[in-house]
Order: sequence, then C-alpha cells, then structure tokens
Amino acid sequence: MSSGGARITPYRDGPLLVRGTFTLTDQEGEEIDVRGGTIALCRCGRSRRKPFCDGTHKVTNWRAASEAQPPPSSTSG
Ligand code: FES
Repeated sequence: MSSGGARITPYRDGPLLVRGTFTLTDQEGEEIDVRGGTIALCRCGRSRRKPFCDGTHKVTNWRAASEAQPPPSSTSG
C-alpha cells in the first residue's frame, strides 16, 4: 500500500472518489480547480458537471461494481 499521492476508489454504483494529493487537468493540461482534498469523478457519463459527479447516477439507477472486473475472455477459434 502506498503512503502518499492519491487514492482512487470506485464506489459501487457511483463515482470514482479521489483523495489525497493530486492535480486534476483537462486534456490540454489546464488545471481544473479542485476545492478541498476529496473529489468525486463521474463514471456513469450522465453528470451535468463533468468531470465531477452530480448525483445523477442515483436517478438513473446506474450500476457498477466497486471491485475490478476481469478482462473479457478471448473466444477466438
Ligand atoms: S457517477 Fe455520479 S453522476 Fe455519474
């Protein structure tokens, strides 16, 4: 377990919580203002405040696991 930097946690049926020391930037490298030490990043794609979660995932009943999912199996042949 790392002792510094950021910790990112995918919440079940919810956002990615980012805690710790980090910098959030857009694709061009422009820093996005982050107030406070913890942010919630949308992973359902429905937020009106992207990249932040605005709670819309609850309204849409979006579902996702917290734990990592196995990669898709190769079914060639
Ligand atoms: S994860 Fe919350 S609005 Fe998308």
